[in-house]
Amino acid sequence: MNKFNHLKGFMFSSVLVLTLLSCKNETKQDENVTETEPKPAHMIDKKTFGVMPDNSEISVYTLKNDNGIEVSVINYGGIITSLKVPDRNGNVEDIVLGFNNLEDYLKKPPYFGALIGRYGNRIGDAKFTLDGTEYQLAKNDGENSLHGGEKGFDKVFWNIEPITDSENPTLKLTYRSEDMEEGFPGNLDVEVHYILTNDNTLEVDYKATTDKPTVVNLTQHTYFNLSGDFSKTILDQEVSINADGYLPVSKTLIPTGEVRSVEGTPFDFRQSKSIGQDIEDKDQQISFGGGFDHCWVLTGDGMREAATAYDSESGRYMVVKTNEPAIQFYTGNFLDGTLPAKGGGNYEHRTGFCLETQHYPDSPNKPDFPSTELKPGEIYSSKTTFTFSTK
Ligand code: GLA
Repeated sequence: MNKFNHLKGFMFSSVLVLTLLSCKNETKQDENVTETEPKPAHMIDKKTFGVMPDNSEISVYTLKNDNGIEVSVINYGGIITSLKVPDRNGNVEDIVLGFNNLEDYLKKPPYFGALIGRYGNRIGDAKFTLDGTEYQLAKNDGENSLHGGEKGFDKVFWNIEPITDSENPTLKLTYRSEDMEEGFPGNLDVEVHYILTNDNTLEVDYKATTDKPTVVNLTQHTYFNLSGDFSKTILDQEVSINADGYLPVSKTLIPTGEVRSVEGTPFDFRQSKSIGQDIEDKDQQISFGGGFDHCWVLTGDGMREAATAYDSESGRYMVVKTNEPAIQFYTGNFLDGTLPAKGGGNYEHRTGFCLETQHYPDSPNKPDFPSTELKPGEIYSSKTTFTFSTK
């Protein structure tokens, strides 16, 4: 199906350090580069992260680029457990919320760093009709279905295969979601690539195929705090969103069907502004979300800028691009100081924000929204990039 397929079956055993492109014989050497200055190595480390209640082992894979950026991923939930990025002085810090150990990830965390599916975001009344058949889903968010149900893609075991001969360090994650798993029709084969490039981009590529008509909406639920200090809120960090409209929601956060202009509302992020600036606004939509927890309709189509985020103190700047039609911006409103933070202390209210690229919530029940239906023979294809720099 794609250029990585020939690597199928490549197995890793125990703790292994792979040095890619570092072998002098295999790497084209620039004439000016001397023998003592080999090209820096791309690395993929594999270590044990923890052991599941059924004794299966969960591994953590770490991709590194030449500029000190490191991203770690576990095969439980395809979760990004850490993402280390330099600040403007070159201090490398972890900028994503998560836990130090597997046990905490198993205790119902709020989707920290996870891959989300089969249907990211909410489906109203936890049901939808496809080709005349009604499908009932688990009501795991009041009366609604959230993020794929009781055991969404964030809680399953993903097979991880490090891709060692590609230009950039890459992890290929695969998962088969069985027919009627969590109430969704069709066997869905999902493939996600995490790719870390030397221009400081983390690329997330999603592909899926089905053997029966189904609905699919995949996303990535990383919580960012660009300060690298999880005891700080994200309220002073600045965000822009490339959207003229957003989807107002009901009290239970189901889109009403309207696309509302952001003009003159707290939802206008067309110019970068601090997350905190309008987060306590009296707008009814803000009170429904307890802050921002809404989907913005992105301007344009194809791969284009969706959002930016900036922390003026550390100088860290992130650009998010996607080919998806929308982005959910969530400001950690449900964080309440009860979950243990990686660096000590707990994750307090609004200490992380998420930028989840996706199709609109509740699309299976909203014929006017862009379709999330996937039919046999079609390939679901979605791509999002997160690029880091400082200013
Ligand atoms: C998404 C939802 C939020 C919340 C978080 C997880 O971003 O939109 O309402 O459920 O996930 O807590």
